[in-house]
Amino acid sequence: MTLDDVRQRLRDARRVTALTGAGVSAASGIPTFRGADGLWRNFRAETLATPGAFAKDPRLVWEWYEWRRQLIAAAKPNPAHELLARWTRERAGFTLITQNVDGLHERAGADRLVRLHGSIWHVRCWNRCGAGDRDWRDDRLPLPSLPPPCPHCGGLLRPGVVWFGESLDPDVVSAATAATACDVFLTIGTSAVVYPAAGLVHEAKRRGAFTVEINTETTEASSAVDVALRGKAEEVLAQLARSADSEV
Ligand code: APR
Repeated sequence: MTLDDVRQRLRDARRVTALTGAGVSAASGIPTFRGADGLWRNFRAETLATPGAFAKDPRLVWEWYEWRRQLIAAAKPNPAHELLARWTRERAGFTLITQNVDGLHERAGADRLVRLHGSIWHVRCWNRCGAGDRDWRDDRLPLPSLPPPCPHCGGLLRPGVVWFGESLDPDVVSAATAATACDVFLTIGTSAVVYPAAGLVHEAKRRGAFTVEINTETTEASSAVDVALRGKAEEVLAQLARSADSEV
């Protein structure tokens, strides 16, 4: 199976779904979670992105999110973001699902996006006070204080992201699962270890989709997909789009 075969599949496909992970933002200078650059002050994401870590030391957790917000604000969407965003606008039957909370897909102009893990630019009240229980956008940089107070109850604000041990929004999960009913399913720049996101490619395959992985390395999903394209998302997608687009 070659790049040409995948291009052909993309050309013939009516419904295409792409799932993205941190690898898609690597070319924008955003560290991945489990790559060599994934540590912050020697902390792994798994130890900071939990309700327990926040309860124990909300300032430390916010310092990590503030560091990432600063990085992301200074970053720009890269060609992978731009191509996928263009497909959301121009390609009927294309669904973009992301695990990323950085907002770079949106900044690239993606007009339909299934965001599995929330957004680093959203906050909500840790105490779940009435007014503060639903996420709202807060892109103040820097935040006036860490941890920032809830404007409704004076308690703590927490990032509007899904932490380990927390469940995803059921509406978002069902939108993502519905999108596995497709002709081609692309899994791009994810290590495929965090569920339920990592289960989507297997569900797509079970439903008869042609499954393609784009990653610089082997992942947990590599042995399950029809084709594993080794390379950088921003380069491989550009190669795939070259002719696929001209036929769309
Ligand atoms: N192009 C393609 N793939 C890349 C690139 C690139 N330029 N750079 C890195 N990668 C790959 C790595 O080989 C790795 O397999 O991207 C993957 C990134 O994996 P993780 O760091 O584990 O990120 P991700 O899979 O998105 O993590 C899933 O875990 O920490 C939680 O909630 C967080 O959404 C995140 C989830």
